Amino acid sequence: MSEIDGKVVAITGAGSGIGEATALLLAERGARLVVGGRRSERLADLVARIEKAGGEAVHLRTDVTRRDDLHALVGLARERFGRLDVLVSNAGVGTISPLDDLRVEEWDHMVDVNIKGVLHGIGAALPVFRAQGGGHFVTTASTAAFRIVPTMAVYAGTKVAVRAICEGLRQEAGDSLRVTTVSPGMIGTEFADASSNPRVRAELSAARDRIAIPPAAVARAIAYAIGQPADVDVNEIVVRPTAQS
Ligand SMILES: NC(=O)c1ccc[n+]([C@@H]2O[C@H](COP(=O)([O-])OP(=O)(O)OC[C@H]3O[C@@H](n4cnc5c(N)ncnc54)[C@H](OP(=O)(O)O)[C@@H]3O)[C@@H](O)[C@H]2O)c1
Repeated sequence: MSEIDGKVVAITGAGSGIGEATALLLAERGARLVVGGRRSERLADLVARIEKAGGEAVHLRTDVTRRDDLHALVGLARERFGRLDVLVSNAGVGTISPLDDLRVEEWDHMVDVNIKGVLHGIGAALPVFRAQGGGHFVTTASTAAFRIVPTMAVYAGTKVAVRAICEGLRQEAGDSLRVTTVSPGMIGTEFADASSNPRVRAELSAARDRIAIPPAAVARAIAYAIGQPADVDVNEIVVRPTAQS
């Protein structure tokens, strides 16, 4: 039997892209899913597809900038399935632009979603994992955390912070908690459409159309980490298109 089979996995940002692909793959491998995001209709459709394929899933409207929403998501996992084995903190925004644009509200929003959203997940799941005697944090960072380029200063800053927080968490985790950070490169999702700077948006979309790989590639990496035996902690995975510099 696979290590994924029967696990209860909560995923944020599950309505599209990497989160959606991860939910579908894990459900196919026998995980029970609790999917969160702001677009409830997307989540309801995802749950219907999982159920139609014979899987188990529930959804909850979740805004990761709201601490209570993460407590509710973790609470739903326990209420519905009796426990939570894995929290995939995947929700993220990339409103990428040069600093000179001074899109300061977008900077704030990236900090709120990408950093504080991850912290809210840790705050909600950590006591549950401790009480259960085990659990697994999987967090989506980015290759932007490894290679800083113009227009990505704030976004990269949030993802560097995510890697630092997860490494600190890993060091404090002890012998029963696992911590995995997955850093995707250019993936074929809606992500590239988020920039409100038309030039940056056009460049990102063109790069995506040229080299992006499908979100299922990241889902397989996440499934690999979750699928390891409990004494194997896969900490960092970088998945980028072969053609990405
Ligand atoms: N695509 C890439 O090239 C790429 C590269 C590196 C890293 N990443 C990272 O991968 C993760 C997933 O992105 P993606 O590529 O799959 O793009 P995506 O399709 O845009 O997915 C992002 C998800 O985050 C959710 N989200 C945004 N704000 C939220 C909030 N406040 N609360 C809850 N959910 C929220 C969105 O759903 P709702 O709008 O319904 O809430 C959406 O489903 C992000 O962390 C991103 O930074 C992506």
